[in-house]
Amino acid sequence: MKHTKVVDVLKSDKLLQPVTISGWVRSFRNDRFIAINDGSTINTIQCVLEDNIIDQKTLERINVGAAIIITGTLVESEGKGQRVEIKVSEIHIEGDADPEEVKLTILSPKRHSLEKLREQAHLRVRTNTFGAIMRLRSKLSFAVHEYFQKNDFYYVHTPIITGSDAEGAGEAFKVTNMDLKNPPKDENGEVDYSKDFFGREANLTVSGQLEGETYAMGLGQIYTFGPTFRAENSNTSRHLSEFWMIEPEIAFCDLDGNMDLAEDFIKYVIQFALDNCMDDLEFLENRLVQEDKSKPQAERAEMLLRDKLKFVLDNNFKRVSYTEAIEILKNSKPNKKKKFKYPIEEWGADLQSEHERFLVEKHFKCPVILFDYPADIKSFYMRLNEDGKTVRAMDILFPGIGEIVGGSQREERLDVLKQKMEALNIPEEDLWWYLDTRRFGTCTHSGFGLGFERLVLFVTGMSNIRDVIPYPRTPLNAEF
Ligand code: 4AD
Ligand code: MG
Repeated sequence: MKHTKVVDVLKSDKLLQPVTISGWVRSFRNDRFIAINDGSTINTIQCVLEDNIIDQKTLERINVGAAIIITGTLVESEGKGQRVEIKVSEIHIEGDADPEEVKLTILSPKRHSLEKLREQAHLRVRTNTFGAIMRLRSKLSFAVHEYFQKNDFYYVHTPIITGSDAEGAGEAFKVTNMDLKNPPKDENGEVDYSKDFFGREANLTVSGQLEGETYAMGLGQIYTFGPTFRAENSNTSRHLSEFWMIEPEIAFCDLDGNMDLAEDFIKYVIQFALDNCMDDLEFLENRLVQEDKSKPQAERAEMLLRDKLKFVLDNNFKRVSYTEAIEILKNSKPNKKKKFKYPIEEWGADLQSEHERFLVEKHFKCPVILFDYPADIKSFYMRLNEDGKTVRAMDILFPGIGEIVGGSQREERLDVLKQKMEALNIPEEDLWWYLDTRRFGTCTHSGFGLGFERLVLFVTGMSNIRDVIPYPRTPLNAEF
C-alpha cells in the first residue's frame, strides 16, 4: 500500500510513467476533473477521467470528501494552473462520503467561518487553512528540537503530574481519583489528601521549570517541550487551558545570555519555516490579504505575512528596562488621553496587554525584550537585583501577540531565595528538593518559557490561539 505522495507527484519529472496516489476528493468537475488532496501539501493533484474509463456506478461515488485511490499515468497538463496531472486508468473508492450529509458539514466546498470550523474541529484539518497551519505546527516543532539538539541541549521530560505549583499563582488543575461525592475526611472534617491516589495533593503542571532547573544543574543545559495546564479563567484569543511550552534552562548563564539565546532561538525557528514551508506560508499570506479586504484601512496589516517574518529576522530585538518602558507609557498619547483601560500612573504597575502592544506595535515597531521588572509583580524564583526592588526577569513581546516569552535569571542564593519564599508563604517543605540545588553547588543560571501556540500564531498570522492547536481546551470547552 505504498502510494506516491501528492507533494512528490507535483514535483516529479517521471512523465508517461504509472503512478498511484491516495487521498480525499476536494472537487469533481464536469464528470472529468477530480482534485485530490492527501495532506502532504496545500496543493491538489488534478486527475483526468477520459470517456468510458470508469463505470457509471463508480462515477457516482466520486464525491467531495470521499477517500479514493487512483492509478494512472503522469502527463503534462493541458490546462492552466498545474504543470502535471494524472490520466486516470483505475479508481478505487475506499470510503464514501454521502453528498447530502457532507452538505451539512464544513467539508462542503464554500467559505465557512473560523467559529464554524472550531465546532467541527475533527474535520477542519481537511480544509486548506487548517492543513497549512497544522503542517507548519509540525515543522516548527521539529525546528525547536533541531535548534536545541544542534546546540547541545538535552531534552528532559519533566513530569505532567506534580506536587508543586511552579508559578505559585494557584492556577493548577487538581489531579485526584477520590470519589468526589464522598471524599475521605480527617478529624476536622477537611478532605484527607493522604488517602488520595498519590498520598498528597497533586496537580497538572503549570511549568516544567523547577524540575528543569534541577536537571540543568547536572546536564548543564536542557530544554523541555511539553504540555502545560492553567486553570486561569481568561477567555482571550491568547490563552489556552492546555498549551505547549518550550523551556530551556542553562547553568552558568546570566540574563544577557538568556536574552541572546531566546532571540537566536526564535529567529532560527522562523527561518526554518521560511526555508521549509513556503507553499503553506504563501497560502496563509494570501488568506490574510483576502481577509483584510473586508476590513477598514486602519485595521489592515502593515506588512505581508512573509515580510513580517523576514522583518523579525533582519532586526535586533529592542532591549528595554521596565523602568524605561514605564516612562514611555506614562508619557504616551493613549495614557494622557485616558485611552488605556488601565492607566499607567506610577512605577510598579503590572503591564497589561494593551501596554505591551502599544510598546511593540506603536512605539518601537519591532519585537521588544523588557527586563528588570519590579520584584512584586514577578515570581519568587527570579534573582533580586542590587537595588533590592527589581528582579532579573525578561519578557519578550511580539507584534500582534504581546508576550511570547517569559523568563529570568534565577535566584541562586539560598538565603535570599528562602526569604522570598517566606514572604510569599511558600512552605519550604514543599520545595525542599528545589532548595537543594542552592545547597549543593549552586550557580548562576537562567531560563525562559516560550508558549508554542503563540509562536505558531505569529508564524501563521492567525489571530485566535484556538486555531493553531488541533483541539483547543478553554474555559467551558473540552469537546473532542
Ligand atoms: O510567563 P510564564 O507564565 O512563565 C513560566 O511559566 C516560566 N516558568 C517559564 C520559565 O522561565 N521557564 O509562561 C511562559 C510563556 C508565556 O510567555 C506565554 O508565551 C506562554 O508561556 N503562556 C501561555 N500560552 C497560552 N495560553 C496560556 N494560558 C499561557 N500562559 C503562558
Ligand atoms: Mg509571563
